[in-house]
Amino acid sequence: DSTIRATSAPSSPSTAIAEPEGIKINSIPTKPFEGQKTGTSGLRKKVKVFMQENYLANWIQALFNSLPPEDYKSGLLVLGGDGRYFNREAAQIIIKIAAGNGVGKILVGKEGVLSTPAVSAVIRKQKASQLNFFLLEYFGANGGFIMSASHNPGGPEYDWGIKFNYSSGQPAPESITDKIYGNTLSISEIKIADVPDVDLSKVGVTKFGSFSVEVIDPVSDYLELLETVFDFQLIKGLLSRPDFRFIFDAMHAVTGAYAKPIFVDKLGATLDSISNGIPLEDFGHGHPDPNLTYAKDLVNILYAENGPDFGAASDGDGDRNMILGRSFFVTPSDSVAVIAANTEAIPYFKNGVKGLARSMPTSGALDRVAEKLNLPFFEANGPWIQVPTGWKFFGNLMDAGNLSVCGEESFGTGSDHIREKDGIWAVLAWLSIIAHRNKDKKPGEKLVSVSDVVKEHWATYGRNFFSRYDYEECESEGANKMIEYLRDIIAKSKAGDKYGSYVLQFADDFTYTDPVDGSVVSKQGVRFVFTDGSRIIYRLSGTGSAGATVRVYIEQFEPDVSKHDADAQIALKPLIDLAISVSKLKDYTGREQPTVIT
Ligand code: G6P
Ligand code: ZN
Repeated sequence: DSTIRATSAPSSPSTAIAEPEGIKINSIPTKPFEGQKTGTSGLRKKVKVFMQENYLANWIQALFNSLPPEDYKSGLLVLGGDGRYFNREAAQIIIKIAAGNGVGKILVGKEGVLSTPAVSAVIRKQKASQLNFFLLEYFGANGGFIMSASHNPGGPEYDWGIKFNYSSGQPAPESITDKIYGNTLSISEIKIADVPDVDLSKVGVTKFGSFSVEVIDPVSDYLELLETVFDFQLIKGLLSRPDFRFIFDAMHAVTGAYAKPIFVDKLGATLDSISNGIPLEDFGHGHPDPNLTYAKDLVNILYAENGPDFGAASDGDGDRNMILGRSFFVTPSDSVAVIAANTEAIPYFKNGVKGLARSMPTSGALDRVAEKLNLPFFEANGPWIQVPTGWKFFGNLMDAGNLSVCGEESFGTGSDHIREKDGIWAVLAWLSIIAHRNKDKKPGEKLVSVSDVVKEHWATYGRNFFSRYDYEECESEGANKMIEYLRDIIAKSKAGDKYGSYVLQFADDFTYTDPVDGSVVSKQGVRFVFTDGSRIIYRLSGTGSAGATVRVYIEQFEPDVSKHDADAQIALKPLIDLAISVSKLKDYTGREQPTVIT
């Protein structure tokens, strides 16, 4: 058996190959596994799939086979994860294969923990240090691994995942992930260093010949960066007011490791304002996805009588966020628009914003802000502002200096301070806005609330009513057929077609041309755009681990302030009904009701 186990050196047959100084490297024969293609965000499967012999090792080796040697030989890679089940074992496997392929050093979070945004921050920090010639110790991070299946549940019966980020801290582009997939199909050998497991429980350096592993504190580099982005004194002023009550739900996921050091120790929140703050391998049997369904406990607290003024939650790996006011939910599409319209509260943006962008299914609320700010890179409905679903598509725009703030309807919000969406960043951005609006308020004076800020925003820009229906774990066949059926409809459709009271402007399957490198991705979502700006979009999720998840996105613009208080589900009802009937969704999926509505 040639299984790679975390705790023992691989068994025979093995032959020694080129020896970097001081360590023995073994070559293990292996055979390809099917289905190691990455989705929207890395490779995600059930834990049991990853635990099959060599499954993870194959993918990691295929990754090294896909990178130019100069990108990792004697180089520095970062390793971290969300603390889920199997991470400890996986970390040891990744370290040994990295060493076996000639990586010089691994920087790993203590206990293998680093949130996704923290990995991005650490990669970028090492890069910045490289520019400092006095710090000869650093040779710059070439990239990093994130052990996470994001918001998917964890534990022996649930999901595991791995993502690779490149040298500026952004998720690897499809050109690389496609290469990795290609290599997984022909892999025959794994190179693994014959070194013992590294103790990840203590900060410090362990050397094995020319290879070393440094265990780092997961919080400090990330926190240091956030302190340059936000005015911590301003936020502290708000969090220490007796008339402002704050609650953060870490969902027993990775932000549990960050919440106390940041919100309590640095910003003065009370300890009891952090709930589910202990990271657990199975997230306390929870589904660590901050939305109205899976973060129901937090929602109930905020909607209870005399509830707190501000609530927020983050997901498994700390890149998603949900923002709530008292009895008020901020949709992610509105959230990014409000942040973009209020950057004066955030020192990082003191010189203005370079550009704004959203993913295609995200509502057009952000477009209206971009229009008003007259941003140089704004083009209505142009490629600069709408990318396909997936944070990786924002990276090139940021690296080119064209993008400062961006967001997705899928509870992702962030800026170019790193190259990942950032849950705690979004919470601090909102706290900054609320603090800024209330900084002169005397004790006893009524504070400007989260809902006040959003309602004012709607009054200024109009309201983009938005909702998403998810049908999780459908049979793949029916879901694929439904998309094929919709592609047929759009092929035959033309401007002016009537859909009930809606008149079609155009219907297509979204194609994106990256304005920086010219790369093209197609089939990114079937859209029906009507003459009044209403939209219906259909996509299959790229982040599930079993079956197919159908997503239906519905949006309608309402300029009339007197109609802004309507419930989104009521305001959108005619369009939702149309979306379900046009697609024959019930016939194709057999589902009467969605699993999740946001
Ligand atoms: C991850 C990605 C996001 C994406 C989301 C939903 O969180 O980082 O960029 O929007 O998944 O993707 P899906 O393909 O499931 O709709
Ligand atoms: Zn995530």
